[in-house]
Amino acid sequence: MGVREIQVAAHNLNHSLIVHELDDVCDSVTGRPLTGSWLWDSALVLSHWMPTHLNFHGKAVIELGAGAGLPGLTAALLGATRVLLTDVQPLLAGLLKNVEANGFEGRVDVRELVWGSDESISGLTESSTFDVVLMSDVFYDPEEMVGLSRTLKRICEEGTEIWAASELRPWTGECLNELRDQGFQVVEIVTSQLGVQEGVEDCNEFAIFQIVPPLAENCNVSTTPVREF
Ligand SMILES: C[S@@+](CC[C@H](N)C(=O)[O-])C[C@H]1O[C@@H](n2cnc3c(N)ncnc32)[C@H](O)[C@@H]1O
Repeated sequence: MGVREIQVAAHNLNHSLIVHELDDVCDSVTGRPLTGSWLWDSALVLSHWMPTHLNFHGKAVIELGAGAGLPGLTAALLGATRVLLTDVQPLLAGLLKNVEANGFEGRVDVRELVWGSDESISGLTESSTFDVVLMSDVFYDPEEMVGLSRTLKRICEEGTEIWAASELRPWTGECLNELRDQGFQVVEIVTSQLGVQEGVEDCNEFAIFQIVPPLAENCNVSTTPVREF
């Protein structure tokens, strides 16, 4: 825990982002630290991959389950006009600190968004539409996927792209199958060597997925062969 400096490099950019991790934010019921208090390797993997694969110029971006918010902050650095970092309420102060630490006030906002909660979404979609949804390390509990799907369906419009990075764990496939059952198409874009990079400490396998919402199923998606999970 502490402050981390994460390098973001593209052909015309070499910049670092400041990310504070929290060590005093616990679940009020279990007393355990909230998982979003610190940066997960999937966030490093996605942030590292984004500059060379996605164009954020002029885009409106939302990050779900943002934790410390690295992918969303990376989108802001790469030219997104507007970024909304969302997570459960106790993590919002930490997210705000990271927005301020990088001088993104005014362009990056922070808001509570609990997956599946209509209350969280109300007011959000009337005033905003999003071009890109980012998620890292959110495929760890199959039971959460129905709520996550509901939120994704509410915030996505025709043309909204969803990109997600995940460590591949024994239950990742189950989470992805839940998304498929909810009508999403799951396209595996890249896997394996992603973990072998600066800042990612273990050699676990990671993947980046494009998640295609039901209404956009016929839009252009990568033709990379899809591995079944
Ligand atoms: C493993 S952490 C990943 C955090 C961050 N995305 C990263 O990669 O560093 C999972 C995140 O999902 C958030 N999350 C889990 N269930 C959620 C829910 N039902 N609604 C909103 N956020 C949720 C957690 O609070 C946490 O920030």
